[in-house]
Amino acid sequence: MAAQGGSDRGDSRPSSAPAKSNGKPTVTVERLTHLDVPEICALYKRVWETFRPELPPEMVKAWAPTPLEFTSWMEGVTYFAARRDGRMIGAVGCEFNDGSCRIVHLVVDPDARRLGIGSSLTSAAVDWAKHNNSSAIWVDALARFTAAAEMFRQLGFAEAGVLHKHRWKEDVRLFEKLL
Ligand SMILES: CC(C)(COP(=O)(O)OP(=O)(O)OC[C@H]1O[C@@H](n2cnc3c(N)ncnc32)[C@H](O)[C@@H]1OP(=O)(O)O)[C@@H](O)C(=O)NCCC(=O)NCCS
Repeated sequence: MAAQGGSDRGDSRPSSAPAKSNGKPTVTVERLTHLDVPEICALYKRVWETFRPELPPEMVKAWAPTPLEFTSWMEGVTYFAARRDGRMIGAVGCEFNDGSCRIVHLVVDPDARRLGIGSSLTSAAVDWAKHNNSSAIWVDALARFTAAAEMFRQLGFAEAGVLHKHRWKEDVRLFEKLL
């Protein structure tokens, strides 16, 4: 599952998905375009609604943007989406600052977890960071998101610290990978 991106950070639609192989559903990871905004907003809503009532409602609201809000998220962030048989089942954003890349808004549809989709999206972010000559890639995750922590460790990220009561009074763990 290789990421298919362009050579720049513009908005051109990436190359098309490969055909099915061996009758298995094909998963692709491709650059997101403005045409995909309604679908990614629906994905974020699906994912974060499952965290009610454990997560603070303001957090769920902040992480499930409207199409208009997501359009402004796209300013300065490159998003990739994973699709299975054409349906969006995961997404990740890459935000560049001063030579490093931050992973943002990584989610996988609850129905599609433990199939390597989150790893593929993270690898796409790593590839994109390398492509843009970043020296490091990092991500912060709520400390309660133990699945994400385990996945980042599996992918060679090192835990770099904890920010206490950082987001909506929740502890946040930092993970980094030098490139
Ligand atoms: C974190 C998340 C993106 C992982 O996506 P995924 O597609 O299920 O991850 P993968 O299938 O690539 O998992 C890779 C490895 O991570 C670890 N892992 C993933 N989910 C796990 C879980 N629930 N418990 C323990 N380990 C887990 C495992 O080592 C797994 O490998 P294995 O399945 O061979 O054992 C997904 O659970 C998710 O969307 N969670 C909610 C949102 C979130 O936490 N986002 C990250 C914010 S930074």
